[in-house]
Amino acid sequence: MNTPVRILGIAGSLRRESYNRAALRAATKLVPKGAILETLELDGIPAFNQDKEQNPPARVSELKRRIRKADAILFVTPEYNYSVSGVLKNAIDWASRPHGDSAWNGKPAAIMGATTGAIGTARAQNHLRQILVYLNMFPINQPEVLISHAMDRFDQEGNLTDAPTRDRIIELLQNLVDWARRIGPK
Ligand SMILES: Cc1cc2nc3c(=O)[nH]c(=O)nc-3n(C[C@H](O)[C@H](O)[C@H](O)COP(=O)(O)O)c2cc1C
Repeated sequence: MNTPVRILGIAGSLRRESYNRAALRAATKLVPKGAILETLELDGIPAFNQDKEQNPPARVSELKRRIRKADAILFVTPEYNYSVSGVLKNAIDWASRPHGDSAWNGKPAAIMGATTGAIGTARAQNHLRQILVYLNMFPINQPEVLISHAMDRFDQEGNLTDAPTRDRIIELLQNLVDWARRIGPK
């Protein structure tokens, strides 16, 4: 019970001023006591090629190692054409392979996302939940952290300024930590 819950946060955007990366940075400052939130950047991960899955690039091996070390995963997803971004799906695919050696298997997870649009990444989050079924991951359901009109919720430096969003992220992280403790390590 005294061992901290290690959360790995992954934002599905490479953009320098990404709202999703900004939301993940905000989350690192809102983790509850007894938990650690580390972040993983997806830059430098090549496009998935099944010919290489048995001997993957170094960035992919690192990705899998970091996922395996984590007790829980926090996905921060943009919405691209009603789904998750390609870079996030690409990372998910790499770390799920080769068959029988998925790094995601059995991990508790939480999902949040930011968009400049009005629906707060709800459609992308729903797609991600479907993907997590096949990965045998266990995402919490509540609260939904749907960050719409992101340009109004972060300042020019990418700091989260919207108090209700901050409160929901705090609740999401607390629920994730409680859930990870309940279902235990894989
Ligand atoms: C290829 C592409 C598709 C997009 N599709 C959607 C969409 O379906 N729904 C939505 O709300 N926003 C959509 N957007 C807007 C993104 O939510 C917005 O660019 C957001 O800032 C991207 O996340 P980021 O700031 O973390 O990079 C799209 C943006 C791009 C570049």
